[in-house]
Amino acid sequence: MEKTAKFDFHCIPSPLLSWYGENKRDLPWRREPTPYRVWVSEIMLQQTRVEAVKEYYLRFMEQLPTVYDLATCEEEKLLKLWEGLGYYSRARNLQKAAQQIVREHDGVFPTTVESLKTLPGVGSYTAGAIASIAYGMPVAAVDGNVFRVCSRLEENGAVISDPKYRKYLEETLSGVYPPAGKACADFTQSLFELGALVCKPQNPDCARCPLKGICRAYQNGTQSEYPVLPRKAEKRQERVYVYLIETPEGFCIRRREEGVLRGMNEFPSAVITDGETPENILSEWGVTAFTEIRRQKFTHIFTHIRWEMLCVWVRTDFAPFDTYTLDEILDEISLPTAFKQCLRILGER
Ligand code: ADE
Repeated sequence: MEKTAKFDFHCIPSPLLSWYGENKRDLPWRREPTPYRVWVSEIMLQQTRVEAVKEYYLRFMEQLPTVYDLATCEEEKLLKLWEGLGYYSRARNLQKAAQQIVREHDGVFPTTVESLKTLPGVGSYTAGAIASIAYGMPVAAVDGNVFRVCSRLEENGAVISDPKYRKYLEETLSGVYPPAGKACADFTQSLFELGALVCKPQNPDCARCPLKGICRAYQNGTQSEYPVLPRKAEKRQERVYVYLIETPEGFCIRRREEGVLRGMNEFPSAVITDGETPENILSEWGVTAFTEIRRQKFTHIFTHIRWEMLCVWVRTDFAPFDTYTLDEILDEISLPTAFKQCLRILGER
């Protein structure tokens, strides 16, 4: 059987750069692309949509404009800035990395891909993004968008995120970058942009694609077959009781010691195994005299787990954990979305 010729990625920078010049979005992190600003934006964008990131990013930069501000910021303030973005280890790693930059590099951002990769939370994707966008180096940054664009261009059947194909793309794309300078920043972002605006996961807008003349998936009508998706693992389901324990001083909040969201604040909760009633759990915490005001079901979906939550609002004089007023909870305490939604049980107050 005839072997298909290797796809030549040299053909893509020129049409893609022209297209990007005319179609790029005005995104806040594209103004003043310093390494600090590019880094923070790329970490935020890793698991979150561009539209959702914009507001978080602007607030973050206003509150923590330099790597020193991030290194020295109270953890609670940082988590509050991150509240709702999810994947909170990203925020913790950001701070650890900022502290490393201050401690080991006098606050100056590392300038090589290898030294960038020594920062917590920075892998080859983020290092490539910082190197190319902030420093104008010819280094590729292969995220899900780039993986999709390239696997369609050459009809590559690698399963999405396959590390071998990712590495191949990093090396191959890095070899076709423009000479060092602003064009490298633009080329990296043109690939993100094409993936986001044209070469979308569903219903790609091939008519508008600057690469349609060389795209094998377009020529063969196989766009929907690439990239190959892995078989979806079933989400584990957990039943969880969540307690709004209202005392005269406020509502109880504590730190999660285990499970998903470990280290984050929560309304006291318990994963239910069998037979436990909401009252059993309260009495384990020493809350025996209480009035139940209301209960309501909520669900929350994490990457690998689905929570079926029963939120129970009780009033009592005994506080088994630290308490905070509603204003403090809303303005100062960081609370993951799974728990924050439980405040809806309070209704209009
Ligand atoms: N997705 C990941 N990085 C991005 C960036 N810098 N701009 C737009 N979308 C992105």
